[in-house]
Amino acid sequence: MEAPTNNNSFPFQLDRVAFYGRTLSEYVKMFDIDDISAFKDYSILDCPSGASSFVAEAKNKYGIHAVGCDPLFGEGLNTLAERGEADIEYVMQRVSRIPAYYNWDFYPSIKVLREYRIQALRQVISDYPIGIIERRYIKAELPLLPFDDKSFDLVLSGHFLFTYSHKFDFLFLLSSILELFRVCSREVRIYPVHGSNAQPYEHMVELLSSLKVHGIVYHLIPVPFEFQRGSNQMLRLIR
Ligand SMILES: C[S@@+](CC[C@H](N)C(=O)[O-])C[C@H]1O[C@@H](n2cnc3c(N)ncnc32)[C@H](O)[C@@H]1O
Repeated sequence: MEAPTNNNSFPFQLDRVAFYGRTLSEYVKMFDIDDISAFKDYSILDCPSGASSFVAEAKNKYGIHAVGCDPLFGEGLNTLAERGEADIEYVMQRVSRIPAYYNWDFYPSIKVLREYRIQALRQVISDYPIGIIERRYIKAELPLLPFDDKSFDLVLSGHFLFTYSHKFDFLFLLSSILELFRVCSREVRIYPVHGSNAQPYEHMVELLSSLKVHGIVYHLIPVPFEFQRGSNQMLRLIR
């Protein structure tokens, strides 16, 4: 078993940002949403959405208007499906090398974890053609989003900013968070606040001070989801 480190040699750290995503049932836990139907009248942005089925399920199961953005949106269906399948296997290989770094209560095995990922990918792929027409899947790349100020009531950002903080510098993270806040009228929720090396983000103190300087009210909140050990908090920004 490889030992945990707080440097870039941690065995899980991904070389590229994976086109990978979770289902709505995982989102409600990651973002501590007790009752998704309470957001019926909200407009929600999922950034980046990746291969998550949140946008599809929010609409098809709950009638909630959600928009997903990702640099890969705009690519053809086959390209996304192939990239999604390849990235599921890419991440599964990494996770299976270090199972002790994860809690296996929500997903009891790698097999079940893979089934969740395939289920998410299938749902987004099936919703994508109509979602592109309805402008629910938008090509966009942080730190600049093609949306007006306060376009969304709630902005969710999962498994990107802190997860890939080994690939992005402090300025990118701060500018991206300020951009997510710019397009939101009520609140932003970011999960997790750990890096993929299972360590807390090393510049969190400076980041939170910078948010305070921008007049942003924030809270670090425990959430009822912890797959990677230690990743059980989200950052919530309130307008
Ligand atoms: C792991 S996925 C997101 C997963 C999803 N939010 C979830 O929690 O299941 C990360 C995504 O970030 C996208 N990405 C890469 N660079 C980006 C950037 N500069 N701005 C926004 N998204 C980016 C990738 O294309 C990829 O689909």
